Amino acid sequence: MPQFDLTPVAVPKISTANRRIRTKIPVPASLPVLEELRRYEPQSMSGMPPVVWKRGHGALVEDWWGNRWIDWSSGVLITNAGHGAKPIMDAIVKQAKTGLLTNYLFPHKLRPKLARMLVERAQRAAPNIDKCFLLSTGSETTECAIKLCRTRGRKMDPKKLIMVSFTRGFHGRTLGAQQIGGIPALKEWIGNLDPGFVNVEFPDGYRCKDSSFEFFEEQLANLGVDPSCVCGVILETYQGGGASFAPADYIRKLRAWCDRNAALLVFDEVQAAFGRTGTYWGFEHYGVRPDLICCGKGITSSLPLSCLLGSHEVMDVYPPGSMTSTHSANPICCAAAIANLQIIDRQKLVKNSAKMGQRLHAGLAKLQQQFPTRIGAVHGKGLVAGVQCVKPGTEDPDGDLAFRVVDLCYKKGLLMFAPVGFGGATVKIAPPLVINAAEVDESVAVLAEAFAEAIK
Ligand SMILES: Cc1ncc(COP(=O)(O)O)c(C=O)c1O
Repeated sequence: MPQFDLTPVAVPKISTANRRIRTKIPVPASLPVLEELRRYEPQSMSGMPPVVWKRGHGALVEDWWGNRWIDWSSGVLITNAGHGAKPIMDAIVKQAKTGLLTNYLFPHKLRPKLARMLVERAQRAAPNIDKCFLLSTGSETTECAIKLCRTRGRKMDPKKLIMVSFTRGFHGRTLGAQQIGGIPALKEWIGNLDPGFVNVEFPDGYRCKDSSFEFFEEQLANLGVDPSCVCGVILETYQGGGASFAPADYIRKLRAWCDRNAALLVFDEVQAAFGRTGTYWGFEHYGVRPDLICCGKGITSSLPLSCLLGSHEVMDVYPPGSMTSTHSANPICCAAAIANLQIIDRQKLVKNSAKMGQRLHAGLAKLQQQFPTRIGAVHGKGLVAGVQCVKPGTEDPDGDLAFRVVDLCYKKGLLMFAPVGFGGATVKIAPPLVINAAEVDESVAVLAEAFAEAIK
């Protein structure tokens, strides 16, 4: 992927109710910070548009030099309740002031409250869920899901250890998470891949034309997988790379297949949960109940916390002290999560996500009509969307176009993360769920302007 250039360029000044660009971009005065980062961090950390963030508020992010962006990244789908939400800030400060900053597995009062809140919310859509394991990152939840599927499977039959997952999927950057992931380049470093992890095509109907469930079974047969040896199937509720969903009918058949073969069905909701897709849980779009749910990102709108949700039959297989983590349920992170879940309910952010999502997707549909030969598809639901850039008149991903669009947007006061997905060619849109109609309309207009310029 191309790098964002650190040479400041003069760009048109912008001053609207939401966006403000009043300096060269990147800001000349920000260069010492950016250069120091490039000096002391691995280059892998330098992939985002070079804006030195000072503060965020709602759907907006500001730098130190008076510039302001509408944020279409939410960090990386973290700030569901908006940037800088006051109740979250207050909860963090209040907990920090108690002097309890950490306590491993020793109980504290916020942990049961948060675990109960998460279980109750999961039960609204999946009554089988009654346990919550709090962790720190999304990758830990997918690793733990693999471990639980295999532990349960191997208790039934030592050969029952195969995890099925999907091409183009992403579940984190740790060893197990990368192996269940479906992006071959990310697994090259591993060398000796575990044959117990197999990928089948994700049925997005776009990159994989055959989205029939029969194709799932056919691929397993071709891979020589005996269904009785499958301990679990894991999928992102929508694939983060393209914001693509599977057909509901496929997932219902997958649920039935898992039941028939005593395999667990795991939804990786690290991106999709807490209202992102216009429903509280992304899996509600499929009308099925998962056995395990991986959550992270939007769970706090701020600090690092994640959780794995499941039923006691699955979650209670390890004895006390043997499935733990050092920073599991850090009290300050728990305080942030509780405040965040309360905001999502109180401010009806799931409803706002559905409503603003309709507006966003209507705007993106028009954009695709405007540039039919360069936008191959627009996927997503609620406040997540993936605009898939293609080379003129083909279905070949055009990573350069996606990069130019993101680069132009950031110079115009609309912030996104670097292009993602197949060929790095998806412009990913994921604003905070507090975004309002004016902000949606303004940002879609900026995106259209950027596409027009990038194509010219
Ligand atoms: C769907 C999905 N699962 C898992 C992860 C890993 O989460 P983390 O980066 O917190 O380990 C991510 C992160 O982007 C993700 O998008």
